[in-house]
Amino acid sequence: MTEKAQDEKRNAPFAARRIAEEVDLEFLKEEIPKALDQSLEGVASVSKIVRAIKEFSHPRSWEKTPVDINHAIENTITVAKNEWKYVAEVETDFDPSLSPVPGLASDLNQVFLNIIINAAHAIEDVVRGGSNRKGKIRISTRKDDGWAEIRISDTGSGIPKEIRDRIFDPFFTTKEVAKGTGPLNSPQHSNEKTRRSY
Ligand SMILES: Nc1ncnc2c1ncn2[C@@H]1O[C@H](COP(=O)(O)OP(=O)(O)OP(=O)(O)O)[C@@H](O)[C@H]1O
Ligand SMILES: [Mg+2]
Repeated sequence: MTEKAQDEKRNAPFAARRIAEEVDLEFLKEEIPKALDQSLEGVASVSKIVRAIKEFSHPRSWEKTPVDINHAIENTITVAKNEWKYVAEVETDFDPSLSPVPGLASDLNQVFLNIIINAAHAIEDVVRGGSNRKGKIRISTRKDDGWAEIRISDTGSGIPKEIRDRIFDPFFTTKEVAKGTGPLNSPQHSNEKTRRSY
């Protein structure tokens, strides 16, 4: 061993202690697990979103299949997160005993998505109008004597009485053109409205 190497060996414990002091080991011992946890949470949330989008955009079927309504709503909430997360919190209360309901899964998803986006827009108006506090979108499901009941409510200002009987008109909107999928921006608009009003 050279003299230099012997020197380094002798001084190693001191060097290690100095480095430990410089990098603030205590701080790292606390922060690294937190950072790793957050990264893992991030990865889990990305994979949840990817899974939800994959299911959501499943090819459209023309035949009714048994639809797990709770799961479909949960997925749609995830897919629509960018629309609501800045203005609202979503609260769910799903009936676990709800059995699958025969339906067109992708159409049902579209309906849930439109209603959630409507709720987010309505809340956004209130929040921007000065309340500044996040609103709430509540979604619950319930088995009701052989029927599946889905309730969706929001803390927006509500649908004004005078337009309530127009909301199923194919091109009716109170929103400016650039917002959401307003009639002039969406070729599917009239289809969706026609389908919804069946
Ligand atoms: N949750 C709600 N709260 C208050 N008003 C609502 C709500 N949902 C719908 N509305 C009113 O009903 C109108 C029609 O809603 P609809 O979803 O059919 O069209 P839209 O949201 O305007 O456009 P899009 O085709 O992009 O959905 C809206 O413009 C809005 O004025
Ligand atoms: Mg809408």
